Amino acid sequence: MLAIIGASGKIGSATLDAIFSHGMLPADQIIGCTSSEPGSPKWSKLSEKGVQVRHASFDDPISIKNAISGCDKLFLISSPRIFMDFFDAPQGHGREKDHFAAINAACDAGIKHIYYTSLAFISPSKSNVMTAHERTEAYLKGVKRSKGVDYTIIREGLYNESWPLYFGHFNPKTDSRTEVIVAGDGAISWTSISDLGLANAVILVSDNEKYKGNTLYLSNTRDPKSLADIASMLSSTRKQPISLKVVSRSEHEEYYIKERGMNEGQIKWWAKTYDALKGGECRIEHDKTLELILSEYGRVPKPVQVTVDEMIDIN
Ligand SMILES: NC(=O)c1ccc[n+]([C@@H]2O[C@H](COP(=O)([O-])OP(=O)(O)OC[C@H]3O[C@@H](n4cnc5c(N)ncnc54)[C@H](OP(=O)(O)O)[C@@H]3O)[C@@H](O)[C@H]2O)c1
Repeated sequence: MLAIIGASGKIGSATLDAIFSHGMLPADQIIGCTSSEPGSPKWSKLSEKGVQVRHASFDDPISIKNAISGCDKLFLISSPRIFMDFFDAPQGHGREKDHFAAINAACDAGIKHIYYTSLAFISPSKSNVMTAHERTEAYLKGVKRSKGVDYTIIREGLYNESWPLYFGHFNPKTDSRTEVIVAGDGAISWTSISDLGLANAVILVSDNEKYKGNTLYLSNTRDPKSLADIASMLSSTRKQPISLKVVSRSEHEEYYIKERGMNEGQIKWWAKTYDALKGGECRIEHDKTLELILSEYGRVPKPVQVTVDEMIDIN
């Protein structure tokens, strides 16, 4: 039995869709966890997929233990509660707090193998976004040593669909900026959510031994694109020039916090991502796992240009 924490979200949904569209596992062999309550839209959406739906919240470890008891595998999708990381959260207080709670509950519930969704930056990373992931990866290795629970760390590629976040918190539908300010640039191995869903699904249903103890990257290594490249794509798609301006981190923070009124904690947390980009941490070339898995299904990775065009929706 497979349990999924984060089953209702983007990566959980894409993984479930791939499992079902390729008949990899019957729905009754999957427990979809949600922190929502019965009758809520998220609960109903999961239920419609045919999985067993159970309540489990990072805030209530007992609910996680109860929800996933009887399963041997846990797909732990990382916590979306980024506010926990803000202002340099000390060890154990960032999003890793949610992950540690889930991992401890999984050990108590008798889970044999935890698959954790980390992020496809080279580590050690200069970013803040990787801190909770690096702490969780270390925790999983400790749990393997102390309790014998197996792990697979899946460093999920940076979503094609998340280009607006990196590209100056851009709004694809309404943004009228002709110059976008960021604190750095570098190549990114953008990877679509649906491609990640298929690769996750294959890994989860594989024999336990195949990916046991691995830290692997799921990235489209073929054609990395920088934020300047994204600006060129937008310029040609919208038939209106838009440029990228690289400034210092402090200028970036001041602009987004003071001029655009964005949340200070979020901007200061996010701005160090550009140090990582400049350092080449998001250009992934050495791990072809995603492409190998997709090729077994006759697929090639979806280029980020296609996603940009879809999200701009010029028609
Ligand atoms: N690879 C990338 O480029 C990329 C991009 C964006 C985000 N991420 C990260 O990837 C992870 C998940 O991604 P996603 O895109 O699937 O995010 P998402 O669509 O926002 O889904 C988040 C999931 O977290 C669950 N959740 C929220 N609060 C919870 C709680 N208290 N207890 C248990 N579960 C809770 C939600 O389920 P319920 O509400 O049903 O409980 C939902 O299924 C996050 O860490 C996110 O920061 C990665």
